[in-house]
Amino acid sequence: MSINKITVLGSGVMGHGIAQVSAMAGYTVTLRDIEQSLLDKAMEKIKWSLNKLVEKQKLSQQDADKIFARITPIVDLKSALKGADLLIEAVPEDMNLKKKVYAEVDNYAEGKTLYASNTSTLPITDMAALTNRPERFIGLHFFNPPQLMPLVEVIPGAKSDQSMVNMAMDYCKKVGKQPVLCKKDVPGFIVNRIFIPLVHEAAYCMDRDGASMTQIDSAVKFKMSFPMGIFELADYTGLDVIHKATVEMHTRDPKVLVPHPKIKQLFDEKNLGQKTGKGFYEYKGDKYERVNLTEQEAATYNPIKLLAVAANNAAWLITNGVCDRAELEKALKLGMGLKKELFVTVQEFGPKNIVKALQDLASKYGQFYQPDTYLVDYYA
Ligand code: 3HC
Repeated sequence: MSINKITVLGSGVMGHGIAQVSAMAGYTVTLRDIEQSLLDKAMEKIKWSLNKLVEKQKLSQQDADKIFARITPIVDLKSALKGADLLIEAVPEDMNLKKKVYAEVDNYAEGKTLYASNTSTLPITDMAALTNRPERFIGLHFFNPPQLMPLVEVIPGAKSDQSMVNMAMDYCKKVGKQPVLCKKDVPGFIVNRIFIPLVHEAAYCMDRDGASMTQIDSAVKFKMSFPMGIFELADYTGLDVIHKATVEMHTRDPKVLVPHPKIKQLFDEKNLGQKTGKGFYEYKGDKYERVNLTEQEAATYNPIKLLAVAANNAAWLITNGVCDRAELEKALKLGMGLKKELFVTVQEFGPKNIVKALQDLASKYGQFYQPDTYLVDYYA
């Protein structure tokens, strides 16, 4: 399985970043989208990102130019797939759209082309079944921004060949990423199983505790060791991504999260976060911008409910054999930039207090909050 040419389908937040990191590792890359204007925007973003890396002396200008030249934007699907050894699909998270895309791709892809999907929530086994090569299909889930986040979750489907897992692991290493194997094809895989419910919980904390967004976000950043607040991260990720992930995860398993109406409301209003200038927060433009969060404000809010929900979902992953504790902590560190292990923070807050917080929430708001046995048995 020698990979030289990679075709990335979809040039959005994830697609353009995956194309860039692949080109940075020396692959010849074709970036495909349905309109030239989308590709122009994506190539501009790649240029911006490469310039940043040059500014920070992580790349020379000469290398940045070579990397940029290795990426060819193409609208025509047939030409885009010509000669591809590996296809990485990063189109929006909608099963009907994926169905349409894979039917078209199957028409043009050469026999040798391996398929990978960057889906963040859809079942890999079901997506593989949409194609004419389910045994040569795998999940390859990057994190935003792919240029900076070192994690890739590798998710085999029920029919994926072991050689695909090996290929995915090798590809991740070649592009300078650290893979974590997600052993079960569960909604949200590892990181989104923790991240997406947390966005909803943060919205509930506003209602239930009367806390402000910056109070909650400051506490998440300074007391839970996240690099960004949760609302800030939701805006950065995009409310369209969060909403679609919510719908897919909740449809697959209603026990995964309790949707808060605010997320759908922002999506319906097209307030999608940083990229539209407004989401939970307002921004000056559509470029990278941070929210001002302070330790002083963090001191005014106790984020125990958020920590409890994150820990409970983490516990569920471990109890259900999706990953072990070491892999979970690795995924959270590399995929969400946690500066301290989640279960170390749990230890600091006191596991008994976390279980008690969950029991209180469960008695008021239902089963979703029922503490997992892993927590109740105190990491048995
Ligand atoms: N390429 C190159 N440089 C970039 C960049 C990119 N794509 N994006 C941002 N940068 C630059 C910024 O411009 C900034 O440069 P500056 O110093 O010149 O201003 C620098 O990188 C970042 O510096 P900051 O001090 O602003 O920020 P941090 O040190 O906190 O790092 C971060 C930024 C890596 C984004 C960090 O805040 C982080 O890890 N945040 C969490 C991100 C996360 O959780 N991602 C996963 C979301 S879930 C997901 O993606 C899954 C999906 O399925 C939903």
